[in-house]
Amino acid sequence: ALCGVPRLAVLLLLAPRLWARGCPCSEPALCSPIRHRPDFEVFVFDVGQKTWKFYDWSQITTVAVFGKYDSELMCYAHSQGARAVLKGDVSLKEITDPTFRASWIADKLDLAKTQYMDGINIDIEQEVNCLSPEYQALTALVKETTEVFHREIEGSQVTFDVAWSPKSIDKRCYNYTGIADACDFLFVMSYDEQSQIWSECIAAANAPYNQTLTGYSDYIRMGISPKKLVMGLPWYGYDYTCLNLSEDDTCTIAKVPFRGAPCSDAAGRQVPYKVIMKQVNNSISGNQWNKDQQAPYYNYKDPAGHFHQVWYDNPQSISLKAAYIQNHGLRGIGMWNANCLDYSEDTLARQQTEEMWKALKPKLR
Ligand SMILES: *[C@@H]1O[C@H](CO)[C@@H](O)[C@H](O)[C@H]1NC(C)=O
Ligand SMILES: *[C@@H]1O[C@H](CO)[C@@H](O)[C@H](O)[C@H]1NC(C)=O
Ligand SMILES: *[C@@H]1O[C@H](CO)[C@@H](O)[C@H](O)[C@H]1NC(C)=O
Ligand SMILES: *[C@@H]1O[C@H](CO)[C@@H](O)[C@H](O)[C@H]1NC(C)=O
Repeated sequence: ALCGVPRLAVLLLLAPRLWARGCPCSEPALCSPIRHRPDFEVFVFDVGQKTWKFYDWSQITTVAVFGKYDSELMCYAHSQGARAVLKGDVSLKEITDPTFRASWIADKLDLAKTQYMDGINIDIEQEVNCLSPEYQALTALVKETTEVFHREIEGSQVTFDVAWSPKSIDKRCYNYTGIADACDFLFVMSYDEQSQIWSECIAAANAPYNQTLTGYSDYIRMGISPKKLVMGLPWYGYDYTCLNLSEDDTCTIAKVPFRGAPCSDAAGRQVPYKVIMKQVNNSISGNQWNKDQQAPYYNYKDPAGHFHQVWYDNPQSISLKAAYIQNHGLRGIGMWNANCLDYSEDTLARQQTEEMWKALKPKLR
């Protein structure tokens, strides 16, 4: 069939593909999936670039690779006994078709195998109506993905991201108990908790203490085992422009509606912890602590003369929330996202970065 084509040319045409399928790590063993099941998960999202080299790998058990595929990161994670997992997102309109689901899963499995990844983190943040065809199909998708991955990649992990509360946040109505049963665990995104502000339109914490913990007790009360819940914390905050900043630090914000709510954190801008740490000392208020929300914030004035209020999380607010993990036996902890810290050589930045990683550790008492 190949007559007329020189053999060498055929080899050269095939070679790159064979090469691409080879193990990219220095040791072939580093391409094997991780099988060890840790008692405690430290689940880290990475969004790209090379800062992962400076992460605290003594803690990390899973890195969800949300940036471009990086074989060096996969090899390194494996050398540290940590899983590297794919990102899974899909249009919910399509998944009601079982054939579509099967081909989506087959594609993801193929990708995981060719990239030597250890599973997939499914991150669907779309609107779902209660008991709609999509509601049923989403549970089926998670169940089928888990079955296929567990069968085809030994030790693989399938996880699913949920909002801070099961009470249809952002009009996401899921079969939470069904999805929790169908996968290894849920990553609870305990942040963006002002995505729907129903009361006064004022700036508030990204993840207030009480509100965050209420979310977990609601998940547990609906019958989900704490061992199926990983607490996701923010390593970023929100910078709000105040329409008015009162004497008692109430920052009125613009009305930006979101999924039925009159205002939302969309009036603000997300800022990574590293940027916040560069700004806080030069702000007009300095670092402040809000007792009701158990969260830090500060106010500053921009060059145009507008007041801003910035709400964020630091080791203090994170440790308070993390104490719940031990007290209630949750599966682990994690953050969105690990790239938000300052990994430069600067002495102060290094210390602040180290303290953020340390805040994830269970406290000895
Ligand atoms: C949720 O999923 C579980 C497991 O698939 C199923 O038994 C249950 O009926 C579902 N609940 C609803 C309300 O559809
Ligand atoms: C706006 O801020 C000023 C200065 O702090 C305060 O006196 C005033 O009551 C605030 N106005 C509103 C509508 O909150
Ligand atoms: C900011 O202030 C804190 C507390 O006073 C101090 O520890 C820190 O070194 C300061 N950071 C910078 C960048 O000056
Ligand atoms: C937080 O919850 C505790 C315990 O339920 C309660 O006593 C306290 O008033 C709550 N704080 C706020 C600001 O809601």
